[in-house]
Amino acid sequence: MAKCDEDEKIKMAEFKNGKNHSTATSKTQNVTIHLFLATFAAVVGSAFQHGYNTGVVNAPVKILEKWIREVLKNQSIAAGEIGVASETFVNVILATIVSVFCFGGMIGGLCVGVVSEIFGRKGGILFNNIFVFVSALLMGFAKSQESIMMLIIGRLFIGVNAGINAGLIPMYLSEISPLNLRGMIGSSYQLIITVSILLSQILGLESILGNENHWPILLSLIVVPAFLQLVLMPACVESPKYLWSKGQEQSAIEALHWLRCTSDVQSELDLIKSESDAQKSAGKITLSQMLTNPMLRIPMIISIVIMLAQQLSGINAVIFYSTKIFKSANLSDDMAQIGTIAMGAMNVAMTLASSILVEAAGRKTLLLIGFVGMLIDTILLTIALPMAKSLESDVIKYMPVVLVIGFVVIFAVGPGSIPWFLVSELFMQNARPMATSIAVGINWSANFFVGLGFPILHSAMNSYVFVLFAFLQLLFTIFILKKVPETKNKTTEEISAIFRQMSYE
Ligand SMILES: *[C@@H]1O[C@H](CO)[C@@H](O)[C@H](O)[C@H]1NC(C)=O
Repeated sequence: MAKCDEDEKIKMAEFKNGKNHSTATSKTQNVTIHLFLATFAAVVGSAFQHGYNTGVVNAPVKILEKWIREVLKNQSIAAGEIGVASETFVNVILATIVSVFCFGGMIGGLCVGVVSEIFGRKGGILFNNIFVFVSALLMGFAKSQESIMMLIIGRLFIGVNAGINAGLIPMYLSEISPLNLRGMIGSSYQLIITVSILLSQILGLESILGNENHWPILLSLIVVPAFLQLVLMPACVESPKYLWSKGQEQSAIEALHWLRCTSDVQSELDLIKSESDAQKSAGKITLSQMLTNPMLRIPMIISIVIMLAQQLSGINAVIFYSTKIFKSANLSDDMAQIGTIAMGAMNVAMTLASSILVEAAGRKTLLLIGFVGMLIDTILLTIALPMAKSLESDVIKYMPVVLVIGFVVIFAVGPGSIPWFLVSELFMQNARPMATSIAVGINWSANFFVGLGFPILHSAMNSYVFVLFAFLQLLFTIFILKKVPETKNKTTEEISAIFRQMSYE
């Protein structure tokens, strides 16, 4: 509040000095304290769930395996059998616990459209925390209840939460951001994902919470950001664009005043108004329009391919199995764990750099740098992995570690953060919820299948599995080069004009 009043005074002073600040604010705006608060409340509460739960079962996987074996033994004793659970069965349960999170994400992703329209963006974000509390109860008490099922259902629920978050948050962020900050603020979603993956890796160390006694706490820590969000989010406004689209024009204006910390919002209001007028004639978008109308189909295909590109680039295969990759390069257990944490830290640092670069360099450029870089890195990794196994040289032994960390760094340049908010940029208000649902649902599906498929492919093809990723990266590079438009600093209407042009070609 205090900061806002100050801004207002400065503006008044400028105004008295005869400066025309009206055009200045429409071009380059700063992050106001309110915009920061809304971004912080939305992102820290939600992207946390997405990232933390992606990484949290990675470190204590051996502990969980032991627990599952014991529970199964106890159950078979209770049933009057004295059997030892088969190794395969334990592995299937473990894989289910890991991957059911992404399956939940798929379901959540597909619900984004409905949730964001019924509850609104802000209401949806608040509502979504129900899943966090149910999940934390299930996962937190699974051990004392000796119930594997509770753990699985808990992971499913937090997956649904994360799936909804992945659509709702970038949508809210892109709708509350001024034009010149849309990429930076949109990137904060991925930034907090990377921070919380790193946090989960550190807390998951055996000496902290990743041990026999404390893993239920490790898993139920998810309530902390949920509480934080429930306290902070009610103090923030609903998306002005959403309010306007629902005919609550006065509330939309007030929300915009709040976010910009000024009552001088005319130029932005004009944009919202003209976007709303432009789509009045189109009415409500249906799924069949999405697939047949080229003005919608082109951005939909781009969104789907970019989401697939993010997941099929191989990033999660690298993150999920980094420890294994390090070990298969003959590193000691300790070194492998340090490598994993170093990788997480590099991921955070580079995502932060990317969120600043994205407004200067543009979306398309960073996506291209990312995919070309990953392609080169993956080819080198395919060559280095078998060599590290057969040769004794120290330099070659550490090559895969350097390349795996390099992969994560290059991924973070653009492919990590841009797809999340690009979907919101490509669509107008009336098509945005449905398009986000489809794109986010596809992202989680791809995540799910890579998680299930990679171990199978890895055992069949060994390190040559990366040849497959390299091939896909090449295809995605070509697609981005040819099809993805630059959206930096463009209004929604300017972006849809690009697609109108493309649909005539
Ligand atoms: C198995 O049963 C024993 C005896 O009832 C109990 O002490 C132990 O905690 C159980 N193990 C697990 C993993 O629940």
